[in-house]
Amino acid sequence: MQYFTERNGELYAEDLPLRDVAERFGTPCYVYSRAAFTQQYLSYAQALGSHPGMICYAIKANSNLAILNMLAKLGAGFDIVSGGELERVLYAGGNPSRIVFSGVGKSVQEMARALDVGIFCFNVESEAELELLAQVAADKGKVANVSLRVNPDVDANTHPYISTGLKENKFGIAIERAPAVYARAAQLPSLAIKGLDCHIGSQLTQLTPFLDALERLLLLIDELAAKGIHISHLDLGGGLGVTYRDETPPPVAEYMAAIKAKLGDRPLALMFEPGRSISANAGVLLTQVMFLKPTEHKNFAVIDAAMNDNIRPSLYQAWQDIRPLQQRGQAPKTWDLVGPICETGDFLGKGRELAIEPGDLLAVMSAGAYGFSMSSNYNTRGRAAEVVVDGDQMHLVRARETFEDLIRGEALLPE
Ligand code: LLP
Repeated sequence: MQYFTERNGELYAEDLPLRDVAERFGTPCYVYSRAAFTQQYLSYAQALGSHPGMICYAIKANSNLAILNMLAKLGAGFDIVSGGELERVLYAGGNPSRIVFSGVGKSVQEMARALDVGIFCFNVESEAELELLAQVAADKGKVANVSLRVNPDVDANTHPYISTGLKENKFGIAIERAPAVYARAAQLPSLAIKGLDCHIGSQLTQLTPFLDALERLLLLIDELAAKGIHISHLDLGGGLGVTYRDETPPPVAEYMAAIKAKLGDRPLALMFEPGRSISANAGVLLTQVMFLKPTEHKNFAVIDAAMNDNIRPSLYQAWQDIRPLQQRGQAPKTWDLVGPICETGDFLGKGRELAIEPGDLLAVMSAGAYGFSMSSNYNTRGRAAEVVVDGDQMHLVRARETFEDLIRGEALLPE
């Protein structure tokens, strides 16, 4: 079901006109649908069904506390990649025993804190990290649950910046090397081998790369079992794509069914780390047209959202639909929608057919994933407000940043 829909020429989030949100909280403003988040999370939980395992939402996609709290109440686990993300999950009421910790550069402090709160598992990405984690756990007299993130060397067929499962990527341990690393882990009394993990990339629109990776992982599990090393869970990472324009990723249920089928009757718990597929189409970014600037070569519409608010178009040439909140009767023209930032790469959409006038409100669609969470203060722009819509109600879940927020912690030199 869609939660951002048009009714009588006006764009709604659930049962609330988006115009009401823009009027109350201003623009640029991220708006999320509670029902959309819920539905997307539940599609994973239901597809997993009674199979042992966990859906660990990758909070890097959208880490607003209200969203995390909502997902925690639904029973979600969480995939984190920093100490900051760990604190967010805890603050939002997430259960530490449902947290997996990914990432290539975990610090001693981050490891120590994660051990103290008792996370479910560390996804270890290198031999050096394994040794350090063993040391940190030993110093505390604790045992760290580990899963090795292996790099299965499969081509995810996605944008090179978000492809992670190839040999040339910095992530994970080469799959050929994994048996030796597991053997080493088995010798370290402060480590408990629990799982095997991979994440091959993001915005995947086909099943084949996932299944190819799974096949390689299962071979590895058999090889390890023959050596007396037993794996109890398989973590397949995130990566399932979404429809931004005309992509046709498999539905969650189909993806999960294909994985379960390949797994057969192996007694392995299944873990997933979805980010984008839960959040992308659960959010939009509202912006207002400031000026129209037709030139001989191009028509520019200067809007009040910029690359600091949503860097995806600039960074990955990502395409996100841009829709007016209210339709106008006039004939559309072709516009490049550019922000106020002093960079040629500052655009949210190019060559869009729109009937717009200054002051009009627009929605950048599919903005719930890697939108606000990748935003910055470049050009000393405060980050946008964030609002959750629930039925016909709206809730401010992050206030727009003020100048005081922006300079907090800065100091002048002494005279
Ligand atoms: N697990 C790990 C270890 C990851 O590195 C990621 C994403 C995920 C899970 C979640 O993947 P997802 O389900 O969202 O595809 N900023 C880029 C996407 C970067 C993804 C990084 N890792 C974008 O805006 O397209």
